[in-house]
Amino acid sequence: MKKLFDILNKKKRSVLGLMSGTSCDGLDIALIEVEGSGIDTRFNFLAGQGAPYSKKQKQALLELMQPDKSNAETLCQLNFYLANIWAKMIHAFLKKQGLTKHEIDLIGSHGQTIRHQPDPIKFIDRKIRSTLQLGDPSVLAQLCGIPVVGDFRVADVALGGQGAPLIPYFDWIYFSRFKENILAVNIGGISNITFVSADGAFNKLIAFDCGPGNMLIDQAMQRLYNKPFDKGGNTARSGKFCPALFDCIQKFDTFIQRQPPKSTGRELYGRDFFLTLLKEFIRLRIDEPDFIHTITKYTAFAIYENYRKFIAPYNTVQKVAVGGGGAHNSFLMEMLRDNFNEAEVKKVKDYQLNEDFKEAIGFAVLANETLHGKPSNVPQVTGAAKPAVLGKICPV
Ligand SMILES: Nc1ncnc2c1ncn2[C@@H]1O[C@H](COP(=O)(O)OP(=O)(O)O)[C@@H](O)[C@H]1O
Ligand SMILES: [Mg+2]
Repeated sequence: MKKLFDILNKKKRSVLGLMSGTSCDGLDIALIEVEGSGIDTRFNFLAGQGAPYSKKQKQALLELMQPDKSNAETLCQLNFYLANIWAKMIHAFLKKQGLTKHEIDLIGSHGQTIRHQPDPIKFIDRKIRSTLQLGDPSVLAQLCGIPVVGDFRVADVALGGQGAPLIPYFDWIYFSRFKENILAVNIGGISNITFVSADGAFNKLIAFDCGPGNMLIDQAMQRLYNKPFDKGGNTARSGKFCPALFDCIQKFDTFIQRQPPKSTGRELYGRDFFLTLLKEFIRLRIDEPDFIHTITKYTAFAIYENYRKFIAPYNTVQKVAVGGGGAHNSFLMEMLRDNFNEAEVKKVKDYQLNEDFKEAIGFAVLANETLHGKPSNVPQVTGAAKPAVLGKICPV
C-alpha cells in the first residue's frame, strides 16, 4: 500500500491505459503522463500502439463470447490467457519505447467484455444484472510488475447502472475546456455518444450507447469478402443504397429507439442479428457492395437518430468529434456529415486527441481517478443509484 501512496503523492504519474473492445481486433495500449484529478486532470499522450490479435486469437475470442460455445473451464482459462498475452504486448511496447516497468506507475485495464447483461434477468431465484470483463487485473499486475486498476464496470452495475458507457467522464474532463456544445462520438464495435455542454456542467452530460458501430460492417466484410473490415469504407462507397434492406434493419433494431440509460454489445448485434441480415441479403438478392453500403449508411443513421431523439430536443451541438476505429471509415464519416448537416463533423484528432487511443487514454485517466479515490461513473448516464469509485486496485 505504501507504494500506492507514493505513486499518489507524485506530481506526475506515468500511466498505461489498455482497451480491448468489442471489435476483438486487438489491444490498444496508450502511455500518458498525468497530473491532478477530476476536472483539473491534465495529461500528455506520449505513445500508443495497437497490438493486433492473430486471426486464431480473434476467432477464439468471438467463439467464446457465444454462450453455447463456452463453459466454466474455457472462461477460467481465457481470464488468465488474456492477461498473459497482454503482459507480453506491454513488455514489447515498453521495450520499443526504451522504457522499463520501473518507469510506469500504474496500468488502467478495461478488460475484454465477454458478456454484458446490465438489465435484470431472472437467475436461480432472483433477477440479476451482470457484466463480465476478462483478462484478470491481478494476474496482469503480477506478470507486468506494475500495479493495475481493472474491472471498472462492475461497481456501477452493482448500483443498478448499465456499467456503460464509462468514457463520458473522460469526455467531460477533456472536452469541457473547449467551451462549446460538443457531441463526442466513439465508433468501436458499438457506437456511443456523449453530449458535453459549453459550460462544462457535469449534470448536463448526456451519454449512452447508440447501437452498432463497426460490428455489422465487420461481420458483413468477413462473411462476404473474407476481410476483417472495410478499409477506408471503399467497398461501401462502391455500392448502392438498398431501401428495402435499410427498412428491414430498422425493423429488427429496436435498441436505437430505446430510451436511455442504455448500453449494448455483441449480445445484440453479434452473430444472431447478423444472420438475420444475411437472410435478407439472400432474400432480396442484394449485390455484395450494396449490402455493405446500406449497412454502413444504417450505422451512421443509428448514431444520428439517437442524437435526434434523445439529445437534440434539449441541446443543439455545433461540433461532432468522432473517435474510434470507425473514424477511419471515410464513407461512414461522409454519411455522418450528411445526417448531421447542421453541425460540423470532425475527428477527435482535430481536438488534439488521438482517435485510435482515445478509449485507452480514457481508461488510464479513470485509473488515475480510482487511485485518487474519486468516483468516475456518471450516474445520470448509466442509471446507477449513486457515484462510485470504479475498479479493483491490484498492487504488486
Ligand atoms: N482503416 C480503416 N478503415 C475502415 N475501418 C477501420 C479502419 N481501421 C479500423 N477500422 C474499424 O475500426 C474497428 C476497430 O475499432 P476500435 O475503436 O478498436 O473498436 P473496439 O473498441 O470495439 O475494439 C475495426 O474492426 C474496423 O471496423
Ligand atoms: Mg479495438
